[in-house]
Amino acid sequence: MYRYVIAVLSLLFILSVSAWADEISFVSYCTSCHGTNGAGPGETIPYISGQSKEYLAITMTEMRDATRYATLMQTLAKGYNDEEIEALAAWFAARQWVSNTNKTDSALAANGKALSESCSSCHEESMREVPRISGQPSGYLSKAMLEYKNMLRNNDGGAAMMIGVVDMSDEDIQALAEYYSGLK
Ligand code: HEC
Ligand code: HEC
Repeated sequence: MYRYVIAVLSLLFILSVSAWADEISFVSYCTSCHGTNGAGPGETIPYISGQSKEYLAITMTEMRDATRYATLMQTLAKGYNDEEIEALAAWFAARQWVSNTNKTDSALAANGKALSESCSSCHEESMREVPRISGQPSGYLSKAMLEYKNMLRNNDGGAAMMIGVVDMSDEDIQALAEYYSGLK
């Protein structure tokens, strides 16, 4: 009996380790850029851990189908089917959001704060198809806003953003990016 219990426990252990290893290898390609703790290196790789599942699934699908502008991800997302995208979105959505630790230019961020009133109605928190922007690196935020302004990001969900930023100066966009990047 004792031996039987040990055998069953060993089997359970092996199964759970291999399930864990499968899960890690499933996402390790993604975390090699997006960071194991959700905080990818550099200024232009977005943080995706803790983002809403809906937003992650929509963006991945649109990038895979090349209906959403991206420099790298259109190629990288190719080959994933809808179920795999759902699973990836669920995995990253279940992680803890980690904000950047970059230093904030407080004068620029104060200018951004003054411009941010119109944004908070939608971006107060990450929910459904609206992404969290607080704590993202400012380089990624300004790049994304410029992509909407220059009408490169013309995916369905981007329309609201395009209207919001189309008349903004690049300086205002920088200021907003600095403000939201500093909100940890
Ligand atoms: C070689 C680096 C790299 C790898 C590997 C990578 N990504 Fe990305 N990812 C990026 C970059 C850079 C962007 C910004 C969009 C662009 O320019 O391609 C991005 C954007 C995204 C976005 C959009 C985030 C937002 O806020 O709009 C999601 C979601 C995403 N990646 C998920 C994934 C998943 C899931 C994987 C694994 C299947 C993955 N990425 C693999 C570099 C990478
Ligand atoms: C009407 C709601 C709404 C308002 C107002 C709004 N946004 Fe957005 N924002 C969205 C939605 C929805 C998306 C995702 C669009 C998509 O799928 O491309 C988005 C995306 C973004 C992104 C890209 C994030 C990423 O991870 O790629 C940034 C940056 C951003 N918004 C900043 C702002 C700023 C700054 C303001 C104020 C000037 C603002 N938004 C006002 C709804 C809004």
